[in-house]
Amino acid sequence: MKTEIIKLDRDNIDLDKVRHAAEVLKGGGLVAFPTETVYGLGANALDRTAVRKIFEAKGRPSDNPLIVHISDKHEVSRLVRDLPPDASRLMDMFWPGPLTLVVQKSCVVPREVTGGLDTVAIRMPSHPVALALIKESGLPVVAPSSNASGRPSPTEAKHVIEDLSGKIDVIIDAGSSAIGLESTVLDITADPPVILRPGGITPVQLEEVLGKVDMSPALTSEQMKTIKPKSPGMKYTHYAPKASMVIVEGELSKVVDKINELVNEYREKGMSIGVLATEQTKNLYPAVKVISMGNRENPETIAANLFRALREFDERNVQLILAEAVDNEGIGLAVMNRITRAAGHNIIRV
Ligand code: TXA
Ligand code: MG
Repeated sequence: MKTEIIKLDRDNIDLDKVRHAAEVLKGGGLVAFPTETVYGLGANALDRTAVRKIFEAKGRPSDNPLIVHISDKHEVSRLVRDLPPDASRLMDMFWPGPLTLVVQKSCVVPREVTGGLDTVAIRMPSHPVALALIKESGLPVVAPSSNASGRPSPTEAKHVIEDLSGKIDVIIDAGSSAIGLESTVLDITADPPVILRPGGITPVQLEEVLGKVDMSPALTSEQMKTIKPKSPGMKYTHYAPKASMVIVEGELSKVVDKINELVNEYREKGMSIGVLATEQTKNLYPAVKVISMGNRENPETIAANLFRALREFDERNVQLILAEAVDNEGIGLAVMNRITRAAGHNIIRV
């Protein structure tokens, strides 16, 4: 299959091009498009055949459910069976934006979308191109991150081309995703609601609206390996670069010392090593390839660069990535969740 690349300017959207991509969705095709979190791979949520194509193109296990994307809050009502009282406050506060709500599904949502579950995940993205595409299609649009299953999520069209070119109909290129990590997945069928995947909206932001939210027990690193997660996607190896990865956690100066010690140890074994550092520490690792994730004082920058950095190490054929841990607060919680899983839970505490 030849994949068509469509370039769009997010600040001056060419609606003819959007309509063309929307026609592809309506015809049962797959269209990768930018969102504020990461690039998504879109299909008509009501078309089982189109939905199955997504799993095939990504190599995604069929029990890992998809998020349904909408362009207007009113579309929620036909997708859900009943809406908990918290839902409308959350939608008013955080939509459009990086919050996905898990609710009881109605019968219009095919089983293929939900991996057989009775619940469905729904989100309204804020990226103008995503909103325009969904609106023009007139459809609810399922969209997982548009990476090959298991790889770091794409934050630029270039990453989508690397993973899916030749396997999907269209890739819309509208620059990089601002947030850089996926949406927060919140199960509001539970009381109090439960965070199934940390993401763009932080627990503190949710608590301001809900009072109390719980964290899925599957998210704490000690338990991540053993508990069966309620969000099926969280059980798979994910976000992983080709290189092996080790995280070093602790007081920053000790982390730097430990990473340098490991660099020496593994260089002697002839390995090509990369260090995933921060603006504060990037000059402290002599004689090794360093990529800064961003500034510790501004953790949003770390979120925005993380997946790109992981892919860059792959391009440079790095065999071992030594990564600094970051503070587990605010968006840092989502950053640590992604790097912990990219590293397959390989953490050294100093
Ligand atoms: O930011 C995002 O959410 C991006 C952009 C493209 O919108 N999408 C995304 O989709 O990250 P995906 O498929 O890569 O991740 C969806 C996550 C998975 O962890 C999946 O298991 C979970 O949401 N999920 C979907 N439906 C669910 C449900 N009914 N119950 C529990 N978890 C669900
Ligand atoms: Mg994904």
